[in-house]
Amino acid sequence: MRKIKFFDTTLRDGEQSAGVNLNLQEKLEIARQLERLRVDIIEAGFPASSKGDFEAVKQIAETVRTCSVTGLSRSVRSDIDAAWEALKGGAEPRLHLFIATSPIHMVHKLRMTPEQVIEAAVEAVKYAKRFFPIVQWSAEDACRSELPFLAKIVAEVIKAGASVINIPDTVGYITPKEYGEIFLYLQNNVPNIEKVSLSAHCHDDLGMAVVNSLSAIEHGATQVECTINGIGERAGNAALEEIAVALHIRKDYYQVETRLNLQEIKRTSNLVSKLTGVVVPPNKAVVGKNAFAHESGIHQDGVLKEKTTYEIISPELVGVPSNSMVLGKHSGRHALRNRVEELGYTLSDEEINQLFVRFKELADKKKDITDDDLIALIFEEKFDHFKDFYQLSSIQVQYGTNQIPTAVVVLKDGKGNEIQEAATGAGSVEALYNTLERCFQTPVTLLDYRIESVGGGRDALAQVFVKVRAHDIETSGRGTAQDVLEASAKAYINAINRVFMIEAMRGENEKVATP
Ligand code: KIV
Ligand code: ZN
Repeated sequence: MRKIKFFDTTLRDGEQSAGVNLNLQEKLEIARQLERLRVDIIEAGFPASSKGDFEAVKQIAETVRTCSVTGLSRSVRSDIDAAWEALKGGAEPRLHLFIATSPIHMVHKLRMTPEQVIEAAVEAVKYAKRFFPIVQWSAEDACRSELPFLAKIVAEVIKAGASVINIPDTVGYITPKEYGEIFLYLQNNVPNIEKVSLSAHCHDDLGMAVVNSLSAIEHGATQVECTINGIGERAGNAALEEIAVALHIRKDYYQVETRLNLQEIKRTSNLVSKLTGVVVPPNKAVVGKNAFAHESGIHQDGVLKEKTTYEIISPELVGVPSNSMVLGKHSGRHALRNRVEELGYTLSDEEINQLFVRFKELADKKKDITDDDLIALIFEEKFDHFKDFYQLSSIQVQYGTNQIPTAVVVLKDGKGNEIQEAATGAGSVEALYNTLERCFQTPVTLLDYRIESVGGGRDALAQVFVKVRAHDIETSGRGTAQDVLEASAKAYINAINRVFMIEAMRGENEKVATP
């Protein structure tokens, strides 16, 4: 059977989604999880785009040992140099070079002639080959390019040393039949095409990213580029989990194999959704909350008699847990550590000690601590702590149906200074956020606010997600607490800390525009 490689770009194209700003630790955690999922290639970022991206790509390359790690690069030497510095410590360094090939992009964006584009592409591949054993070359906006020109430039970059040719549908424009035909055209019109593998990269503007990727596989592609939960620029990229499960369930049709560990899909989806703040719609294929829920009486009856009547994918295939283990007040540090590891998280001894304190505090208020509770605590401990920025000391909110809601907040800044403020608002959350805005001494626009409970029951933890804009930076934040107002305050502080962190990281190296 043909082998299909999965190239995951959650940390590059996925991170380009509006309002998604992952920090280094979050990116590392996602990379480790992608390694458990056994993707073949992780695109960890765009090293020349910012100091933060460079550092993240470098650390991921040095951490991940069983996948190839790559980084994106424009066709210029300075980008290639930065990418090599970031990727050289990787197990199998590879470069992802791109340049646009459609008339629209060449004329309006690059302002280059087709000949100049070929020259720049060839020169970049040759230069990259001095360092990188594997160079992947992408024709940005390939699907709106003229096919004879596409075939010509592909032949030239193969001669220059490219070993993977990627055909992106950058704007999500192509239809499945047309996309398949591009792959056939290249195989029939590029004389040295057998020297390389072909890759698909689809965006979902017309809702066809997954089906286009599958069409590419049917027409000769042996690599697909995708993201977890389909996150990405605009309407997103092709969803990895959907392609992977389609290939598995319809192996009889596609006749291909992958090396993915499908049982890690659900966990990966949860992790990416929590860390990015991008919600998975309940009806989303494979990973949505309702993907395995049978609601109608006739369906329930059928499934009870014989699962296959209405179920083509078993929840176990993608790692949906059938039962959730419960810890309680009497559980010790050892049981906690075991469960954390079983859930797939890597915590240092110090983090486990801190988590144990938080766990005991919660167990005093809540009888059963479920996996979801534990994951919420792990997130608080591991990712939501910005030691160098603001931390919540206390809040007090007064609310009455006939009173003006008033909040008092005490925060500590990164230097340990205490800041205390009070303000009113039309409701309790507004009073709280007005007060926090005073503490930060900077205008903040709240773009989105969502609250959900972790599991069920009156004593469930509250989890709040916010999206804010401050200093021209749009970012998300999350907070968990037993009280909804405390969770709301934590989410807001978390988002603002991210704004300050992004600003600090930008430093002298301003972020360049991403493709
Ligand atoms: O969509 C696109 O064209 C890309 C390339 C940079 C590969 O993401
Ligand atoms: Zn893309």
